[in-house]
Amino acid sequence: MVFGGTLFIGTVALWASKAVAVDNGLAVTPQMGWDNWNAFGCDVSETLLTQTAQLIVDYGLKDLGYHYVILDDCWSTGRNASNNNSLIADSTKFPRGMAAVADDIHALGLGFGMYSDAGKYTCGGYAGSLGYETVDANTFASWGVDYLKYDNCYNMGQAGNQMISSGRYEVMGNALNATGRPILYSLCNWGEDYPWNWGSTIANSWRISGDIFDSWDMADARCPCDGDDAWNCGLPGFHCSVTNIMNKASFIVSKAQPGAWNDLDMLEVGNGAMTDAEYVAHFSMWAAVKSPLIMGNDIRTIPPADLAILSNPAVIAVSQDPSGSSAARRWIYATNDTDINGRATIQMWSGNLKSTTGGDQSDMVVLLINGNKNTIVLNATLADIFVDNGPLGTAPQVKLSWEVRDLWANRMSDDEAKAIIDASSAVGNATTGYNATTIGAGRYNATKTSYADGLAANSSLLLGKVSTTVQPSGTITATVDPHGAAMFRLRAMPTGSLKRDEL
Ligand SMILES: *[C@@H]1O[C@H](CO)[C@@H](O)[C@H](O)[C@H]1NC(C)=O
Ligand SMILES: *[C@@H]1O[C@H](CO)[C@@H](O)[C@H](O)[C@H]1NC(C)=O
Ligand SMILES: *[C@@H]1O[C@H](CO)[C@@H](O)[C@H](O)[C@H]1NC(C)=O
Ligand SMILES: *[C@@H]1O[C@H](CO)[C@@H](O)[C@H](O)[C@H]1NC(C)=O
Ligand SMILES: *[C@@H]1O[C@H](CO)[C@@H](O)[C@H](O)[C@H]1NC(C)=O
Ligand SMILES: *[C@@H]1O[C@H](CO)[C@@H](O)[C@H](O)[C@H]1NC(C)=O
Ligand SMILES: *[C@@H]1O[C@H](CO)[C@@H](O)[C@H](O)[C@H]1NC(C)=O
Ligand SMILES: *[C@@H]1O[C@H](CO)[C@@H](O)[C@H](O)[C@H]1NC(C)=O
Ligand SMILES: *[C@@H]1O[C@H](CO)[C@@H](O)[C@H](O)[C@H]1NC(C)=O
Repeated sequence: MVFGGTLFIGTVALWASKAVAVDNGLAVTPQMGWDNWNAFGCDVSETLLTQTAQLIVDYGLKDLGYHYVILDDCWSTGRNASNNNSLIADSTKFPRGMAAVADDIHALGLGFGMYSDAGKYTCGGYAGSLGYETVDANTFASWGVDYLKYDNCYNMGQAGNQMISSGRYEVMGNALNATGRPILYSLCNWGEDYPWNWGSTIANSWRISGDIFDSWDMADARCPCDGDDAWNCGLPGFHCSVTNIMNKASFIVSKAQPGAWNDLDMLEVGNGAMTDAEYVAHFSMWAAVKSPLIMGNDIRTIPPADLAILSNPAVIAVSQDPSGSSAARRWIYATNDTDINGRATIQMWSGNLKSTTGGDQSDMVVLLINGNKNTIVLNATLADIFVDNGPLGTAPQVKLSWEVRDLWANRMSDDEAKAIIDASSAVGNATTGYNATTIGAGRYNATKTSYADGLAANSSLLLGKVSTTVQPSGTITATVDPHGAAMFRLRAMPTGSLKRDEL
């Protein structure tokens, strides 16, 4: 069998070059940023946004790729009949107006995101954009908005099949395009009417589920479809656990592509109700399936351990990989561990990454997920990791040796994260003051060197720590925390070490 050359290079590059995503040049890799909703709900203000934006810079998060500062619902007081019915920003919450907030955020080199709703009202009961798409898009563009999250409440019954839902969302997409300003379009219709079938031609991302909840696996009747019917879930609901959303994503990972992503909803890392291991698994999964990485916590009070999770460049490099290909679930098994709802599972996900070895063979990301209450040893065979390339161990990659790199081994220490937090002037009581040299020392800086360039240069900050090698037909083994994940990057070892008759 001939290995290498033209046989295996093709797929990823071809996907990336297909012009089937919305053509606004944005979200070529999954968008990154922060949105206030998960931590603050309707409690929004100018100060919240500008302070958070400053901290995103001071904590080095901007230089890891977190770009958009997104204002969610509850920011307006209605429409102005004397001004073409344009939306009015709440002057108590935003005394200087929205354009001034956008200017401040832009001055920091960040993007400004806003929220509206493809319905008569927003979910919070404020004025919605249905029927006002053009005037609202023009208003957003005039304020300097770079991103629109577009919700689905009070849609006047304009849902129920893919034509109706896609048509309703397309109106705003066209209105945004007509402004001439590139505005990232983030659909938020909770997975209703299969947006993964039509979202990519209208928008840059689409939500696949009801709203996330700060829980690993809590069952909630209001977020149904935990099982085999997850992809066909008629009632999106809310209070969706991390594992519920992972399950929904598992059916539709192939829909992700550059410029158009499955959105698993904003991150809960830092909101306090999950364990450290659960937040690590949550962040790892969202990166591997190319969900947008939108922080959803209060950055002003972020615990050092959570800053360390959100700052792991080796995991973010998987999210921002130039190939733009999602990991897929290769297996899931129910275990004998009875969990809070009796459905603890173990899972293995893997996916292609761009090669960093200079050869034709893609790198591979591998995740082992432990849904049990106890620490266990999990195993992933090369046959299962590479099943897309051939069933039952016939994939040629199974005959190679692989370097296995642990993507969490170099996680920033809590002490270092605390030092970064303490050095920020934006919290008001810093002793040393913000010093980019100190903060940046030894850290990855994606503003200076893109993830694509850093990977091409074998940056050790991105490739993770070599933990072992796995031989042909071998198995990767990891001890995984309760509700935790092990995450590895596999790199092909030189083929020269294989005997000719093994190829
Ligand atoms: C609008 O759409 C056209 C056609 O898809 C595209 O070429 C252009 O870049 C878009 N403009 C903006 C501002 O999104
Ligand atoms: C409504 O628009 C008019 C005309 O542009 C303007 O003078 C007025 O200040 C606006 N009202 C509010 C509340 O923004
Ligand atoms: C005013 O609103 C109408 C209807 O939404 C729209 O067609 C028009 O472009 C708007 N004009 C401006 C200046 O925004
Ligand atoms: C799980 O429980 C079943 C039924 O009690 C038993 O047959 C099986 O051996 C158990 N598996 C493990 C891995 O303990
Ligand atoms: C990166 O590492 C691989 C494997 O060690 C090597 O083949 C390749 O030449 C390196 N690339 C660069 C740019 O150093
Ligand atoms: C993984 O392999 C080890 C060693 O063979 C074994 O003890 C363990 O039970 C395996 N784990 C699972 C979940 O099968
Ligand atoms: C600022 O003050 C708060 C509250 O006393 C404290 O928790 C925090 O560590 C202080 N930060 C710095 C940088 O001194
Ligand atoms: C920042 O820290 C570096 C390294 O400690 C130091 O050389 C530099 O003078 C500091 N800059 C400022 C503005 O304090
Ligand atoms: C990251 O790189 C950019 C561009 O070179 C630079 O402006 C910025 O200060 C760097 N950030 C840190 C934290 O060193």
